[in-house]
Amino acid sequence: MKNLISMRDVSKKDILELIDLARDIETGKVKPDLSGKLGALLFFEPSTRTHFSFDTAIKKLGGKSFSMSGTSSTSVKKGETLSDTLMTISQYADFIVMRHKIEGAARFATETVDIPVMNAGDGTNQHPTQALLDLYSIQKTQGTLKNLTIAMIGDLRLGRTVHSLAQALSDFNPKFYFASPRHLQMPQYIKDELTQKSVWFKEVEDINEIIPELDIMYVTRIQKERFAVLEDYEKVKDAYIIDKNILTNVKNNFKLLHPLPRVNEITTDVDDTPYAYYFQQAKNGVFMRQAIITKLLNLI
Ligand code: CP
Repeated sequence: MKNLISMRDVSKKDILELIDLARDIETGKVKPDLSGKLGALLFFEPSTRTHFSFDTAIKKLGGKSFSMSGTSSTSVKKGETLSDTLMTISQYADFIVMRHKIEGAARFATETVDIPVMNAGDGTNQHPTQALLDLYSIQKTQGTLKNLTIAMIGDLRLGRTVHSLAQALSDFNPKFYFASPRHLQMPQYIKDELTQKSVWFKEVEDINEIIPELDIMYVTRIQKERFAVLEDYEKVKDAYIIDKNILTNVKNNFKLLHPLPRVNEITTDVDDTPYAYYFQQAKNGVFMRQAIITKLLNLI
């Protein structure tokens, strides 16, 4: 692995190695050394967790970073192309972490520069580092990735995290339920890939019936910023709201995950229940991103 662009490129063996490495980093069993290396954090779209957890991961590994949050203070504003921006950054940095609104932008970056590129989200397409930290969180809470029943709920069309996570889990014999407003269903190409791999999945509207079966409920925000017409967003924004009352009949091992940020899709009364795992999930992102940097830069 030189780059991390899509979960489609990451084998089951790579996934298991990265989970082991993240655990070894978290427990202090291994201490990779990134000193003398510089990471460029290029965030053309807003971010809190991905940006700051990558920055934290770099610093915990002993490396250094420089950052861009939006384009307003860069020469992109003067008309510089993405290609020229990337070529310039690659003269300074040892690796690039990039979030961009255009699907395929991260792949384009790998074709433009020779240094490792980590996709921190490209439009509605992929968010592979999120999927890997989600897998690490699932492994930690369930003790396994295999044979789990997982519901993905919310905006499954425009939310990139669920695309990467569905692909990432597909080699572990999952049972998937997909619940979304009708126009925000899981894309057909993801469903086709799951069918090709004989993965069981079902699209449902009512989630009450499936809750007692679930090991993991993975909730996502409706992606307001990707709607062309605001009224269309208003029609679906409250489609699924998870509150404490809905979680009365869950399995003992049940956990509620969310990539965050949340808007209103999980009420704050859930935060104090033993089911809420989304803030620990965000913390796991630091260990997994340390592992990803370690693997891509061959630090050990
Ligand atoms: N989960 C996630 O990608 O969050 P941010 O948009 O805050 O980075």
